Amino acid sequence: MIIAIDGPSGAGKSSVSREVANRLGWSLLDTGAIYRCVALIALEKHVDNDPNACAEIAKSLDIRFVASKAGQKVFIGDRDVTKDIRTFETTQCVNHVSPMPEVRAQLLDIQRRLGHATDSIVEGRDIGSVVFPDAELKVFYTASPQARAMRRMKEFQAKGEHFDFEEVVKQIKLRDETEFNREHSPLVKCEDAIVLDTSDLDFEESCQALIRLIQNRQKELA
Ligand code: DC
Repeated sequence: MIIAIDGPSGAGKSSVSREVANRLGWSLLDTGAIYRCVALIALEKHVDNDPNACAEIAKSLDIRFVASKAGQKVFIGDRDVTKDIRTFETTQCVNHVSPMPEVRAQLLDIQRRLGHATDSIVEGRDIGSVVFPDAELKVFYTASPQARAMRRMKEFQAKGEHFDFEEVVKQIKLRDETEFNREHSPLVKCEDAIVLDTSDLDFEESCQALIRLIQNRQKELA
């Protein structure tokens, strides 16, 4: 089974997908991590503004996801890039590498191969619309900018950092604008996707809501 989870940044879909995949004993395919790997290598080779060079990197990307006690690790060849793909620089870079149509086209096969290897929850931005249009279940995971900002603030506070709430809301809205309106593979809610709005749900409730949707679909298909 393929469960396609799409939704904007910061809605918490990654952490919920990861937890639910763990509980069900399924694989989680974090497609954002694949884009981040391409961005990391492009950045290191100083070719991140060259779509053809980035597409070449995507084409030959030897990526592996490895389960570990500390969570899922990401390898390019033998190199553990789990931390490197989450740095500020890589995050900035992936925002202009991921919209490149040349890169997106090259990454289709790898996403499909990894997703079909086993029962998978696949999360990203265009999973239900482009990568797995025949997924058994499509969920569009969302939360209001205010709810997402509140979660961010709590993370910041836990680290002892302080940020202005209105500023965080503004940044989230800006990022949504870019993701929903970009020319290639914009974030869209497919007609056959179920919307899961987690604005008023805590983490456990969000996990339970996703598990219920999956179990209902499994019953329908049985
Ligand atoms: O989910 P994330 O923040 O790790 O995603 C990293 C970047 O990749 C972000 O710019 C969105 C983009 N992305 C995408 O365009 N398509 C996907 N299927 C997954 C991520």
